[in-house]
Amino acid sequence: MGFEHLTVTNARRSFGTRRRAHLALDGVDLDVTPGARIGIVGESGSGKSTLSRMLVGLDTPDTGDVSFDGRPVRSWLSDRRDLLEFRRAVQYIPQDTTSSFDPRRTLRDSVRMPALTLLGLTTREADERVDEMVASLGLAPDMADRRPGHVSGGQRQRFAIARALIVEPQVVVCDEVVSALDVSVQGVILNLLKEYVLGRQAALVFVSHGLPATAFISSDMVVMRGGRILERGTTHRVVEHAEDPYTQGLLSAYALAGGTA
Ligand SMILES: Nc1ncnc2c1ncn2[C@@H]1O[C@H](COP(=O)(O)OP(=O)(O)OP(=O)(O)O)[C@@H](O)[C@H]1O
Ligand SMILES: [Mg+2]
Repeated sequence: MGFEHLTVTNARRSFGTRRRAHLALDGVDLDVTPGARIGIVGESGSGKSTLSRMLVGLDTPDTGDVSFDGRPVRSWLSDRRDLLEFRRAVQYIPQDTTSSFDPRRTLRDSVRMPALTLLGLTTREADERVDEMVASLGLAPDMADRRPGHVSGGQRQRFAIARALIVEPQVVVCDEVVSALDVSVQGVILNLLKEYVLGRQAALVFVSHGLPATAFISSDMVVMRGGRILERGTTHRVVEHAEDPYTQGLLSAYALAGGTA
């Protein structure tokens, strides 16, 4: 089943108490459609993670809507069968992988789990997929038999990617997925993600501080600051002809403006 839209409409979200509220998202709109590769950039605290968590139903807006194929994500999550369908279609790779793996399970157990529960594969079938994923991510085969505390942050990050892609989702939302990796491994992961979405007409939402990585992988870019979207457009347009001075500043810090084809 193909999806049509994963949409955030006029989302506002604040944290803290009513007297000391902090607005993390201040009226944000985003529409994710098949084949879209949306890069979200912006300084620390600009609301990128809050927005990406909202897309996958891990956070809800105070006002505004998040919907998947015209139906509120909240409603998809309220019924077990729909929840499985939503999780199969939309996968999330979190910014912090330390807390996203069960410390008592091996990485293989954790990566295999969604293939068992969401796809109904047998353990043997799931294990074959785990092995393929592990190899394509440049990890040693036996590393999957370790626990999450016994690999490096960058290695754990790659297991988080494997756990998300193993169910072949139609939408991949990833938050700072290459930030913990060295440049050569970044290249492997960026190519793998890009090939994954291009090959399936899947959608990608790629949140990152790293402008070069984001520009490489995205077709469209969104620039956030203070919980708002300052600027958006095709990656080419934003990189070559940024309209907002803040975006121009971000780009010149990387010496990217005018530097890419
Ligand atoms: N659970 C929370 N409780 C309180 N405040 C929060 C929470 N989550 C986010 N915030 C606040 O909301 C704002 C946006 O945070 P968010 O994590 O979305 O930013 P970000 O753009 O992902 O930043 P970074 O680049 O550092 O990951 C920040 O000011 C942050 O402190
Ligand atoms: Mg973040």
